[in-house]
Amino acid sequence: MSDQPLLNVRGVSKFYGSRIGCTDVSFDLWPGEVLAIVGESGSGKTTLLNCLATRLMPTTGCVQYRMRDGNLRDLYQMSDAERRFLMRTDWGFVHQNPADGLRMTVSAGANVGERLMAVGNRHYGNIRNTASDWLERVEIAQDRIDDQPRAFSGGMRQRLQIARNLVTSPRLVFMDEPTGGLDVSVQARLLDLVRGLVSDLGLAVIVVTHDLAVARLLSHRMMVMKGGRVIEQGLTDRVLDDPREPYTQLLVSSILQV
Ligand SMILES: Nc1ncnc2c1ncn2[C@@H]1O[C@H](COP(=O)(O)OP(=O)(O)OP(=O)(O)O)[C@@H](O)[C@H]1O
Ligand SMILES: [Mg+2]
Repeated sequence: MSDQPLLNVRGVSKFYGSRIGCTDVSFDLWPGEVLAIVGESGSGKTTLLNCLATRLMPTTGCVQYRMRDGNLRDLYQMSDAERRFLMRTDWGFVHQNPADGLRMTVSAGANVGERLMAVGNRHYGNIRNTASDWLERVEIAQDRIDDQPRAFSGGMRQRLQIARNLVTSPRLVFMDEPTGGLDVSVQARLLDLVRGLVSDLGLAVIVVTHDLAVARLLSHRMMVMKGGRVIEQGLTDRVLDDPREPYTQLLVSSILQV
């Protein structure tokens, strides 16, 4: 990990009218670090993630991102075009529902290839070969390359969404309940796959999850949210093995269903 943060988050709040989405969230994220955001339903996890990924504009607060040239840029001051460029190249966003992150009516190969074209690849043969390699990496048989994702199972769609997001070597990937809609056995394999890719590629990841087991398996650090606030944060093993806040203790002892 480098000695300079990739993301500086300061005082991010989002209100929906008078309702709190999330409030006064501050943290740093380092390159290669995996941060889990956990908390019960309605605690503000998705709101925060969407603010960080600039899919939502916060009501107040500031997020700075370290560009590849080393300069910090304020995400909320960027033009829409600059933000779209970041999303296409430097970032990934893995949706809980793969249909939200895939184009369901173009082929699997095109879903992956499209991201390569967005970063300037023009050679059809190379794009197809890279797409095919990535399908293999996410355990989709290469002879399915011309099939549309609507012909895939839920687990395959999620793996395809992951390939589409990782093919351009992003530096930061946002994930909202990436295993949420899947059977338990499919979840376990997908998590293993994600864990391997994240460590091989040295990605920084912010992952929202209900599931403390997902946080345990994937993340270095975690933040616990309640009522829109971060009530506890720290190294994942510390938070799960020795939670300080009573609410986190309840979560960990599974008395609360999240
Ligand atoms: N578009 C919206 N308009 C109004 N209120 C919203 C909107 N989106 C979220 N909220 C409110 O913001 C709060 C946080 O919601 P959010 O979706 O961020 O929670 P979450 O932790 O992701 O929950 P879940 O685990 O159920 O996905 C909730 O009170 C919710 O009702
Ligand atoms: Mg959510």
